Amino acid sequence: MNKVGVVGCGLMGSGIAEVCARAGAQVVVVERDADALKAGQARVERSLSRGVASGKITEADLEAAHAHLRFAESFDELADRDLVVEAVLEEEGAKVQVFRHLDEVVTAEDAVLATNTSSIPIIKLAMATHRPEQVIGMHFFNPVPVLKLVEVISSLLTSQETAERVRGFTTDRLGKRVITSPDRAGFVVNALLIPYLLSAIRMLESGFASAEDIDTGMVIGCAHPMGPLALTDLIGLDTTQAVAESLYEEFKEPHLAPPPLLLRMTQAGLLGRKSGQGFFSYKSS
Ligand code: 3HC
Repeated sequence: MNKVGVVGCGLMGSGIAEVCARAGAQVVVVERDADALKAGQARVERSLSRGVASGKITEADLEAAHAHLRFAESFDELADRDLVVEAVLEEEGAKVQVFRHLDEVVTAEDAVLATNTSSIPIIKLAMATHRPEQVIGMHFFNPVPVLKLVEVISSLLTSQETAERVRGFTTDRLGKRVITSPDRAGFVVNALLIPYLLSAIRMLESGFASAEDIDTGMVIGCAHPMGPLALTDLIGLDTTQAVAESLYEEFKEPHLAPPPLLLRMTQAGLLGRKSGQGFFSYKSS
């Protein structure tokens, strides 16, 4: 799989485009309009610059990455792709729409249509196409250029061949470690991670402990690279809420329901790093 398409160039899409281009694939990134495309392109540039500044990316690799990346506004640019990874907002309706559209425009007979969803059942997206056996979950972790894991999720209808091709591309080409998950909300990692993040938010909401102490407790006491509230800010409060809602819808367990504080903060636009303010502030003074 050498011709890759990425739909959506937000936090995750930009990272996926970057790692695929750095691995030498020819990447086309599609966004809904010129502004979103420009923002996505800037996101990729910032990440590449950080990689160069820290010595993780050479100037030659940087040039190669640029040569392999193309940004476009039309889905028609995805027609000849071998693999398309969808990474739009974590909303079922929006993702279903993207899969319908991809099914119309992607012409390669054996093209794989993958989703980076954090929690939406793969089968729901597969059923929006006429080729469910070629639809699969490829769940990357944020920040994508840094974290080495990808969950690969086959639905009940995904073919063995599709799963093997995606696994091969992810390990051999992208150099990532793959774990497999059944098609259940949250898959493996978010089924464990999100209840932990929600517990931390409830702890803050009830006045049990301060945000600083909750995070310091987990960073210093358990050697996590960041505390649960800072991690929620990194993931985005809207995405955290969306994953919690999918988990709650699937399992109906009260501890999976998003707590009111999370709901109010997303309603207020306090989305974490991407909006400059979440549980902590990211505004530059
Ligand atoms: N390419 C390659 N390397 C890069 C890079 C790039 N584009 N940009 C940065 N790096 C490197 C840096 O050089 C640095 O390397 P070093 O550790 O060897 O010096 C490393 O990546 C970390 O870079 P940062 O400067 O950003 O620094 P931090 O040390 O502050 O780490 C962090 C930040 C990587 C976010 C770390 O705190 C961390 O791993 N946190 C946990 C993140 C996590 O749990 N993510 C999972 C979220 S869940 C998810 O995504 C699923 C979704 O569905 C919800």
